[in-house]
Amino acid sequence: MYDDAAAWAAGPAKVYDLLAIAAVGQIPGDLNGLLALDAGAGTGAAGRALASRGAQVVSMDLSEAMVRLASGVRVVADIKHLPLRDDAVSVSVACTVLSHVDDPLVAAKQLARVTKPGGTVVITAFPAGAGHPVKSAADRVLAAAGYREPDWYRAVKGPGEGVVGSPEALTRLAAAAGFSWSRAHTLLVGLDSLGADDLVAWRLGMAQVAAWVAANNREQLAEEIKASLPDSVDPLPLLVLAAGR
Ligand SMILES: C[S@@+](CC[C@H](N)C(=O)[O-])C[C@H]1O[C@@H](n2cnc3c(N)ncnc32)[C@H](O)[C@@H]1O
Repeated sequence: MYDDAAAWAAGPAKVYDLLAIAAVGQIPGDLNGLLALDAGAGTGAAGRALASRGAQVVSMDLSEAMVRLASGVRVVADIKHLPLRDDAVSVSVACTVLSHVDDPLVAAKQLARVTKPGGTVVITAFPAGAGHPVKSAADRVLAAAGYREPDWYRAVKGPGEGVVGSPEALTRLAAAAGFSWSRAHTLLVGLDSLGADDLVAWRLGMAQVAAWVAANNREQLAEEIKASLPDSVDPLPLLVLAAGR
């Protein structure tokens, strides 16, 4: 699962930082001094974006290895059982987490519970089945080299993606979780600031592939992916739900 935090920090983190900055940019108002939760924080992408707007951040993740690399207050916790009292924070963010959770509704209800009335909850996810040219290029090279997605990854992705994989699904999730308002849309996040090495590191550091890559000639795989990258990089579509009660 998400236990190779070093591989994540050296690769996917650069892309996920851009996604988190875009997601946190959807939160209106002044966050200065407000308490904010980054749930499923990973190595702290959204927490950094929240802190840059002056929020006091608590980062929580199921993986101790991942959350250890976040900054500020760090807690190992399951998003389905957040160790916070009701109305504890003003802002909650869960960036690309709910597709990994077996019951996203339970997680969404927890985010609603711990966030004050008048506060904002932001949930992001990738559109179900969405591809990306860089992902396709890497997937082709990895498949040709013998890589197959591990069972744990297929098991977590399947059910979660159905519940959070479109704006309509996110709107239904928000209603079922008891939010009184919600707004879901697709953002296109530009990756132009990243170079070819960053794009390759993104794909080779993903949790489902990092261990296999480490055991299978990373340098050669990286060269092959780099050689097959498109000339220009499409933006990455990201679903963003903002909600409150
Ligand atoms: C795709 S990563 C995203 C990390 C981070 N939010 C970001 O945007 O960079 C998914 C994260 O969700 C965490 N996660 C998965 N299931 C979880 C759960 N039930 N409770 C808390 N965190 C969970 C994983 O450990 C991993 O760090």
